Amino acid sequence: MTNVVVIGSQWGDEGKGKIVDWLSERADIVVRFQGGHNAGHTLVIDGTSYKLSLLPSGVVRPGKMAVIGNGVVVDPHALCAEIDRLAAQGVTVTPENLRIADNATLILSLHRELDGIREDAAGKSNGGVKIGTTRRGIGPAYEDKVGRRAIRVMDLADLETLSAKVDRLLTHHNALRRGLGEAEVSHETIMQELTSVSDRVLPFRDTVWLMLDKERRRGARILFEGAQGSLLDIDHGTYPFVTSSNTVAGQAAAGSGMGPGALGYVLGITKAYTTRVGEGPFPTELTDEIGQFLGERGREFGTVTGRKRRCGWFDAALVRQSVATNGITGIALTKLDVLDGLDELKICVGYTLDGEEIDHLPASQGQQARVVAKYITLEGWKESTVGARKWADLPAQAIKYVRQVEELIGAPVALLSTSPERDDTILVTDPFED
Ligand code: IMP
Repeated sequence: MTNVVVIGSQWGDEGKGKIVDWLSERADIVVRFQGGHNAGHTLVIDGTSYKLSLLPSGVVRPGKMAVIGNGVVVDPHALCAEIDRLAAQGVTVTPENLRIADNATLILSLHRELDGIREDAAGKSNGGVKIGTTRRGIGPAYEDKVGRRAIRVMDLADLETLSAKVDRLLTHHNALRRGLGEAEVSHETIMQELTSVSDRVLPFRDTVWLMLDKERRRGARILFEGAQGSLLDIDHGTYPFVTSSNTVAGQAAAGSGMGPGALGYVLGITKAYTTRVGEGPFPTELTDEIGQFLGERGREFGTVTGRKRRCGWFDAALVRQSVATNGITGIALTKLDVLDGLDELKICVGYTLDGEEIDHLPASQGQQARVVAKYITLEGWKESTVGARKWADLPAQAIKYVRQVEELIGAPVALLSTSPERDDTILVTDPFED
């Protein structure tokens, strides 16, 4: 028995929801360790859909503990709204089933505004770079965390020091806002914003690293629920077109307060083709009718922002990179059925850059924009793979595609998901038992 880290191996939206749901049923504790309410997924349990953005998946299952670790940025108003939405669906969230790290950073309205101001200026006020963020204030909140001026969960409990911290934060933000031609924010506005939610948030606060350490020693099964994807990682992703946190598996340790030895199996959720929301390089992007087909068949619209996702062929070179940067033990391959009916399929195996062959995406923004994908072509299949539950249910060409993916990325398929339905899964390895 081991703990499991679930991460996305591409640009997010790999279909983590279904897999995390299946695993969370088998876990005692589900921990979010990075990101915030920029994530979004829908869990369908006994016919009821639950939309989660900030709360860990375990929260909708009775008897599970959900944990928001120190690596997460928490918008307290979004948190309360999400708890209220769940309450309206009959799910009770109390300190019995949700703990929030007392050292987690808060997202404030000024972070959300700054995120929007930068995006609206179409890059003018952001050094000419438009990221296409979710406008949730994620980046600005992480900036304040690293700038050592953030307001954190436990600060809500001490109004005297909170007031001084808000002053310090506003010295920075108001200078920035003046420079951007925006109205200043008053001390009272922020104090009011914080004190209006403190009574609701504080009961959930906990010394999460300590609680997790005790639980681990007791033998609890812990599921670390990653958000976004490895190619959106602040260090390893397609910088600057990334999110503002480390999304790779190693962050599960730092973002929850556990040592790396506690992590165990790393499951990389991997879509059978590639999608990306927002700006940035995408070497296998298809702007033709095949890209259109993948978007429609795969219902590729963002759950948080409703934006249309860009679609393209499977990029084995990029996923191979994610296998290395995450230490992926095995992958869960999702949405294979979206490829049903295509005459031929391409897989990117590497790139050419200025006429030279390379086997990985370089770190430089300019080079990332110039690489040209190198493909192998496989025969497609006409039969439907929807709902397959064993290998024998799959057409030979689909099996060939999966084997080719495994070989090229250097990691085995542990699970193959063949529809949004929970049971439509081919299970090769149970990550908790591996
Ligand atoms: P931010 O995380 O809102 O700062 O957005 C930065 C980039 O990450 C943008 O390209 C977003 O579209 C992308 N992003 C953030 N969260 C997700 C997600 O959950 N799925 C896919 N893309 C995401």
